[in-house]
Amino acid sequence: MSVAYTPVGWNANKIFYDVALGLAVAAYLWIFMAVAEGMAPGARFDDATIEMRAYGSCAFLMLSAILCIGPLARLDTRFLPVLYNRRHFGVMTCFVAIMHARHVIAWYFAFSPVDPYVALLSSNTSFARLAGFPFELLGVAALLVLTLLAATSHDFWLNFLTPPRWKALHMSIYAAYACVVAHVSLGALLTPQWQAMHVVMPACALTVVALHLAAAARQARLDRTATMANEAVGWIDVGEASGIADGRAIIVPLSDAESVAIFRNGDALGAIANACRHQNGPLGEGRIIDGCVTCPWHGFQYRLEDGCAPPPYTEKLATYNLRSANGWIQLDPRPNPPGTRVEPLHAPARP
Ligand code: HEM
Ligand code: FES
Repeated sequence: MSVAYTPVGWNANKIFYDVALGLAVAAYLWIFMAVAEGMAPGARFDDATIEMRAYGSCAFLMLSAILCIGPLARLDTRFLPVLYNRRHFGVMTCFVAIMHARHVIAWYFAFSPVDPYVALLSSNTSFARLAGFPFELLGVAALLVLTLLAATSHDFWLNFLTPPRWKALHMSIYAAYACVVAHVSLGALLTPQWQAMHVVMPACALTVVALHLAAAARQARLDRTATMANEAVGWIDVGEASGIADGRAIIVPLSDAESVAIFRNGDALGAIANACRHQNGPLGEGRIIDGCVTCPWHGFQYRLEDGCAPPPYTEKLATYNLRSANGWIQLDPRPNPPGTRVEPLHAPARP
């Protein structure tokens, strides 16, 4: 909702999400270290190795979880709240990965005759061999990408780069994940000693791939159904006009990717796309404040009659046509171009 950049403030949801995530990470690290030390009395592994593995495995699990959130939210809308604030999840993952790398450098390369960072980049050049491949460099590549994405995760960069470029940049998370999978496969997994990572890593990687395939298949099915529905287009009955409370909305799903929010503002009803232009917040769960539909997540506002953010802001949503038939509201599922003005449907409010 910005002419230039408008910062998005903290709210209770964001704080809860971050605190819960921080506690989960702290609990994982604490349990990992306690269990690993308990399993290795007399130090089969030294403390530095245990800490390095705790941070490395935590970063890997977090990255896997981040990549699962998108397809899960597409497969089941109950995962949508986890999608919200996923960027903070990414930034926290980057911090945990940096801690892993710091432990590696402080332990593996600290005693090298050259600078530890030079040693990290130059001590192993066996690129032609699988066993003994400098897998650390794959970790370096992944960490560079994670740091770039964390550094550009703020809304300022989304605005500055424009959403399509920002999105394209952030798709490199998949390259980072591939590097991490190779990093672990050519490093920890090639050690003869059995460790949980031998099972955890392939299980996570397969889950990420399987969820993406399932979400893509479902999306293709929905797209086909939506195309058929649009071809055989007809008005949809969405309920009684009196069923919408003043200032509130009902949400009408058209497909899994598209839903419409029908709001009441006094005697006037209007329909706009349900996904907020900011971060896809569910507008239909918001309410009308100061005459505008207000997003429940960060407060972006839109006029009900044309889906436009009030000046000086520039965001626009698609609008939809409504009509009334025997006290029932009917919705035309074909969206109007974003910002199209639609005459409100007049229907008396609930007595
Ligand atoms: C500068 C970057 C990095 C360096 C130098 C590095 C180095 C290492 C080294 C030397 C090991 C082997 C530890 C051992 O078992 O003895 C290791 C393991 C591992 N690394 Fe990295 N790494 C880096 C980045 C990353 C990143 C970004 C991730 C994940 C997001 C990651 C995840 C892991 C995991 C999961 C293991 C296996 C831990 C285990 O055995 O339980 N690493 N790394
Ligand atoms: S204001 Fe952020 S998602 Fe709507």
